[in-house]
Amino acid sequence: MTSTEQDKPTWCKPFPVIGKGTFLFNVSRNRPFRIIVRDLVPNSQIDTSFIEMKVGYEEAILTCKTDNHNFVYPSKKPHPFFGNNIGIEKDLFCTYWLSYDSDRMIVKYGKGYRMNMTTILNENVYLVKESLRKIIKDAFFNPTVHRNVELYDEVDVTYSMMDVETVVDFDHLPFVSDRPPIAVDSSMLNMFDLDEGRFTYSASLPKECLELYTNVTAKNVDLALMEDDSCPDFNLVDAIRNSIRTPDALLHGILKSKEGEFGKSDPRQTYLRITLGHEFGNSPGVPYVLEIWPSDHGSPIHNHGNSYGVIRVLHGGLTINVYNKTSQVKQSTTYTPDDQDYMFDFNVKKDDVTWISPNWYQTHKLWNNTDDFCATIQCYKYGENDNTHWPYFDYVASCNVMDEFEPNSDLTFTELFNKLKDEFLSSKSK
Ligand SMILES: [Fe+2]
Repeated sequence: MTSTEQDKPTWCKPFPVIGKGTFLFNVSRNRPFRIIVRDLVPNSQIDTSFIEMKVGYEEAILTCKTDNHNFVYPSKKPHPFFGNNIGIEKDLFCTYWLSYDSDRMIVKYGKGYRMNMTTILNENVYLVKESLRKIIKDAFFNPTVHRNVELYDEVDVTYSMMDVETVVDFDHLPFVSDRPPIAVDSSMLNMFDLDEGRFTYSASLPKECLELYTNVTAKNVDLALMEDDSCPDFNLVDAIRNSIRTPDALLHGILKSKEGEFGKSDPRQTYLRITLGHEFGNSPGVPYVLEIWPSDHGSPIHNHGNSYGVIRVLHGGLTINVYNKTSQVKQSTTYTPDDQDYMFDFNVKKDDVTWISPNWYQTHKLWNNTDDFCATIQCYKYGENDNTHWPYFDYVASCNVMDEFEPNSDLTFTELFNKLKDEFLSSKSK
């Protein structure tokens, strides 16, 4: 079925920025649908051109149509990440997105987060024979023309306009390229790194992340500098290591008591949360948390409820697996990705900083594959445009069911310091 004069869109809205943007459709679908981009005020007598993205069963087809030409771009299978699963995610909640970029004359379609790896169609529509390029540019990419996005169902609509309104969204920008997960202070920038695009520089972070980055990269945020004049032999790094490894010691005991916290029997899926400071209502839980990861321990796959975050490694190292946006059945009964479905992984070590945002690196699993413990300082903040303020981390629990983790505290930092100092003094006196 193609678009005809008789078709009625289920929903339509103009792109907020002229000539570019990403349309996001967060919905559970079990039948094909089409997204059409066309002039906001079409003159049907002379202009019937439009861009159509059809998402079907294991297929996605982009068509750019003028009166006299049809430029058709079918998706290729298998996709490097999705395999043959490039169409609708039957009965699963999923974000389908369409990026429209008149500057580059590129249209992209994908599922989940907007990333290179989740891009299923990436079509430079301008790459046609030279005689057709002016037609393409005038019909689809005139940067002065306001355009609507229209949503069409293949069959009768079964949900209300109100329902649809809650599941569509726009990003003002088209998706152009990935952002690196490691953040580096802008004062360290050099031209080779800039040219290779290896890092996200601090001044280029989302503003929510920049605030967190500025605080956690302060010189004195360092476990090795946490000293006590009354107890000069006390070393916090050694004390944490001993307390984790010694049966009946404080941290060993807390870790034992947390086994099963994430619904799985794997005792390695535990880590310590040491909170710093108070809540201000602008983050899920206390915004600053020292997390302590024993060797071969880690987290379940989880996301951060669309908040912004920054993680600085204070000791040791971690491996971070990055996952696509979770697709799940309504009422959270089944979760499709498992541990092996990650898109890529990367290692972080002492003083490395990584960041997350609603679209970038939001769903991850952290694991300490080193022989020593790892300590990180993690901090989170809700975005200014976040109207939900989801207070939980959603994680994959037993039987691949999604569950909610309410950020909690095992100890405050001052409690940790004083108790480990007491533990150190007590062991010395024996
Ligand atoms: Fe996390």
